[in-house]
Amino acid sequence: MNYTLAVLAGDGIGPEVVAEGLKVLAAVGRRFQLSFTTHEALIGGIALDQTGTALPPATVETCQNAAAVLLGAVGGPKWDDPSAKVRPEQGLLGIRKALGLFANLRPVTIHPLLTDASPLRHERLEGVDLLVVRELTGGIYFGEKRRERDEHGEWASDLCIYSEAEIVRVVRMAAELARGRNGKLTLVDKANVLETSRLWRSVTTRIMREEYADLHYDWMLVDACAMHLLRRPSDFDVIVTENMFGDILTDEASMLAGSLGMLPSASLGADSMGLYEPIHGSAPDIAGQGKANPLATILSVALLLRHSLQLEAAARAVESAVSAVIEAGIITGDIARPGQRVHRTAEVGDAVAERI
Ligand code: IPM
Ligand code: MG
Repeated sequence: MNYTLAVLAGDGIGPEVVAEGLKVLAAVGRRFQLSFTTHEALIGGIALDQTGTALPPATVETCQNAAAVLLGAVGGPKWDDPSAKVRPEQGLLGIRKALGLFANLRPVTIHPLLTDASPLRHERLEGVDLLVVRELTGGIYFGEKRRERDEHGEWASDLCIYSEAEIVRVVRMAAELARGRNGKLTLVDKANVLETSRLWRSVTTRIMREEYADLHYDWMLVDACAMHLLRRPSDFDVIVTENMFGDILTDEASMLAGSLGMLPSASLGADSMGLYEPIHGSAPDIAGQGKANPLATILSVALLLRHSLQLEAAARAVESAVSAVIEAGIITGDIARPGQRVHRTAEVGDAVAERI
């Protein structure tokens, strides 16, 4: 069986971590007799430099013709001018929107050997296995933006807007996922203040009552959730939330796993096409030095195999190989314990590929 994949390495450490993801994918191909045809395309700052836009039409087309997309990271100080009209991040937001990827799955689990890497105490981390389902193509990220000047000076606004249909589809996806896990769904919102959150609350509560009465459903305000993620993270199963809350809470949740470098993500839409990327950014401070942790990207490859290609055995093989590599102590500096040998990006990728 041959699968066509689009590969968008992007900026900063993106190319380095994607190279390791592809190395592991090639090993999966050998082990399971599959072949992967990869088409590289530009996104982010490098696309801006070469074509003047962060998301060239050719990139969208390459992605649309692929079974799935593997993405590294976008952005960097070179393109950080806040007054710039074009920014690398537009590439990422644009491709999510163009492909209709409305649900972003960000699972958080902790390998028992890595609890030292987390700033939280061991006992708090026991049993942590949560999944944040972040709405990805709506809300304040995509609402109308304004920047104007009047007699008092400048003003700006970002519109946060959600339709019932946008909420329903992501809540259903989150609820289905909860059914296959521990059967618990928590809606995170700010319904004490925001009208969009009140819509989320009423729509979600209705869907859960009518279609998912078998699940345990509750809701939590986002500020309380930020606290409970540190206080009792193992109580969560699936969290569903709007775009910006999900962005913020998942960076926080990544610290449970000790490093942003450990967490993969899958962005899914109505069909099996998906985009898979580490949740970390382009980390320009360590780019090109072989220091980046490739495990988040490698674990994103596992999610790609599972969700877009329906290759569960291959996905598990990747996840087991990652665990084995952690157990063998072949890890980068972000998760190494004091005194433990720090390995380079490519050494970690090689070690995972060898264990597939
Ligand atoms: C993420 C990132 C992006 C986001 C940025 C780079 C636009 O932080 O994937 O979480 O906010 O969605
Ligand atoms: Mg983010």
